[in-house]
Amino acid sequence: MDRIRIRGGRALKGEIPISGAKNAALPLMIVSLLTEETLVLDNVPQLADVMLLQRILGNHGVDVTVAGKRAGEGENSGQTLQLSAKNIVDTTAPYHLVSKMRASFWVIGPLVARMGEARVSMPGGCSIGTRPVDLHLDALKALGAAIDIEEGYVLARAKQGLRGARIHFQKTSVGATHTALLTAALARGESVIENAAQEPEIGDVAACLQKMGAKIEGAGTSTIRVQGVERLHAARHAVLPDRIETGTYAMATAMTGGDVMLLGARTELLEAPLQLLASAGVEITKTNEGIRIKRDGAGLAPVEVSTAPFPGFPTDLQAQLMALMTRARGTSKITETIFENRFMHVQELARLGARIHLDGETATIEGVEKLKGAPVMATDLRASVSLVIAALAAEGETIVHRVYHLDRGFERLEQKLARCGAAIERVAG
Ligand code: UD1
Repeated sequence: MDRIRIRGGRALKGEIPISGAKNAALPLMIVSLLTEETLVLDNVPQLADVMLLQRILGNHGVDVTVAGKRAGEGENSGQTLQLSAKNIVDTTAPYHLVSKMRASFWVIGPLVARMGEARVSMPGGCSIGTRPVDLHLDALKALGAAIDIEEGYVLARAKQGLRGARIHFQKTSVGATHTALLTAALARGESVIENAAQEPEIGDVAACLQKMGAKIEGAGTSTIRVQGVERLHAARHAVLPDRIETGTYAMATAMTGGDVMLLGARTELLEAPLQLLASAGVEITKTNEGIRIKRDGAGLAPVEVSTAPFPGFPTDLQAQLMALMTRARGTSKITETIFENRFMHVQELARLGARIHLDGETATIEGVEKLKGAPVMATDLRASVSLVIAALAAEGETIVHRVYHLDRGFERLEQKLARCGAAIERVAG
């Protein structure tokens, strides 16, 4: 298994291109199941999760090709995927594929909407607490699908087709909102999705569906209205920039006292994290090219924050913020409200010298003078990058083990950081 070796203590300086958002690319790829025609997606990041979803979609019969770059496109513009679900040959998503990535469960809605049936394994993915699928199933049932659970598989059937409905979510869920939206797009009549997730990736998926002929209003707000259509057609869509990658490199820059331009980043996708960083003393400038992050001088001020659904502070930046606050001037408090068990980075950060106390959902972080390099273990996608952030500022050498977690969600991480002066390399084997 690959490891990453980091020698800390160098300030990051330069430019980091921000990739297309993983959390938009995955549902957008799944959208291809809704039409017989070809969906072209630009700015798709090259990530292990994207590769895995290509395999899962391939198993259903989707023909996925990676197109070459067009004139004028540089190495930073991501890949272009052409997805054609002309013939869906299999409506089963098997355990050995779905168990590797939770978002692959989301094929269930499009499969039942287009084919009248789907058999999808209960999901796996990051080990961050129990992550049920009840809200997805509530949405499918409201739209008229019959649901059964058999031997670890969800069977969804709607032989007579689906019909529009009011879907009121008891809890806000990004994935369940995607399921409701994708499924309602092909249901007969109007659907209203209430208490919908407002994450920008939902808006991006809705924008793509609209290009394909779907009738959607209110995506990006808590109430989405969908007028079902009989069929969707070909379209071309570019994935929006990754706000989690943006926030991650903003924190890495601040951690090392650096000065980095995050190319292509958009402030409106992460106002809450940027405001928080500004309140801690990070200089943030919006420019035509992206967002410039800079920090001079002594330690950052501590912060108090709770994670929340968008537009709140994202759970996917919680671990990174905790790494940053390990060296703040004072005591920070970070409360995790979205996922139970999402504190596995705490004991690894402690190995680097961080002082963190856990009490239920709240972590209290006492800033320390310095961190010291050590061997650490990546446990999930976002937790592992928090270790990289800490290691960039730790004295001496840190080895991060199990980096396959990083490869699921961060495109070319070592190259992006090394170009800004970090001493970071991948050790194979
Ligand atoms: C998505 C993101 C993930 C992010 C999360 C929260 C993708 C590919 N993944 O995950 O990076 O951390 O949003 O912003 O976009 N829940 C239920 N029942 C359900 C579904 C969810 O109780 O049927 C709960 C979950 O356990 C969790 C909360 O709802 O406590 C939010 O989860 P959800 O928004 O669904 O996360 P994902 O869509 O899986």
